[in-house]
Amino acid sequence: MREEFEYRVTSPGRVNLIGEHTDYTLGYVMPLATDLHNRLDATPVESAVAVHSTALEETRSFAIGDVSPGGSWIDYVKGCYAVLQAEGHDPPGFDGRITNTLPLGSGLSSSASLELAVMTLLNEVNDLGYSRAELARLSQRVETDFVGVSCGIMDQFAVALGTEHNALLVDTETLEYDLVPLPENVRIVVFHIGVDRELVESAYNERRETAESALGTIGESSSKDVSTEKLAKLSGLEKQRLGYIVRENDRVILARNHLQSGDLSRVGELLLDAHSDIATNYEASCAELDSVVDLAVEHGAYGARLTGAGWGGTAIALVDAADARSFAESVYDAYTDMYPDHDAHYHLVSPADGVRIRSTE
Ligand code: GLA
Repeated sequence: MREEFEYRVTSPGRVNLIGEHTDYTLGYVMPLATDLHNRLDATPVESAVAVHSTALEETRSFAIGDVSPGGSWIDYVKGCYAVLQAEGHDPPGFDGRITNTLPLGSGLSSSASLELAVMTLLNEVNDLGYSRAELARLSQRVETDFVGVSCGIMDQFAVALGTEHNALLVDTETLEYDLVPLPENVRIVVFHIGVDRELVESAYNERRETAESALGTIGESSSKDVSTEKLAKLSGLEKQRLGYIVRENDRVILARNHLQSGDLSRVGELLLDAHSDIATNYEASCAELDSVVDLAVEHGAYGARLTGAGWGGTAIALVDAADARSFAESVYDAYTDMYPDHDAHYHLVSPADGVRIRSTE
């Protein structure tokens, strides 16, 4: 493996502050790009790709004329080629090395981060001229068309368009967005609960189908447009699931307003409401996530909730910046007392810039 590379791409992860399971019904989300990131060092070469992951201590390679999914992390790289080739492009191969501060598979969008790193590299090397939003869309297609996860646009959008100090309030229908500054006196603590996310894909795809069918039943295409009257026409699971989404859209807008006026207690209340609603009505939580949220409140957080798809993975807590480290330690200690066998960990994160590339020469 070479030591020197021509390009360095820094690609963040994402944390979603609020607006969960709303993006695939074209609702509102409010994620931010994190200062935890993947770094891809790369040099273009003729017709093959070889990428070394320092975290996994392995190199994976493929010929760019042969891009079928193989079931490993390199699929996120292969998928970028498949999508760009389907768009009529013929990007060259590259030798690359990934080093990361972003934990893999933790619900912080390490896969979207990798997709955007590769898309950004190929966009630059081949002079394709795609905008950040277009790169986000293309990266989403890596998941939907190649990897086989019917995800929304939130993760890729946050990784592509995040900016330091801000969350993004995104209308996932139009992709219009507002920057929502996170007050300087708060920090976000991210807890990975140390539970492997099993069956996430099937549960996720099933939620998406129900939500889409509920929209179909009432003849709407975006969850933003669902009125109380229309919601009342639904019944059973369709009503329960879409009801949650409609309330969550409202909470995103309220959270933006309260962040703007610096009312952190009310932002915290919304996070707690969001957690209880997604746990009860979307059934996307688990005992450990519920425990972290309770512990976070006991230890003085403004609010806390699961972030990302759920069913394991990660929870966030919004806390005073000055106490963030001791808060995180106390919650961590209490959590590991409850679940001594879980490999939990935590990070303090700040909003960071989206993916960026520079030539190292
Ligand atoms: C995953 C998906 C996103 C979004 C969240 C839930 O992270 O990739 O598109 O649907 O789950 O909010």
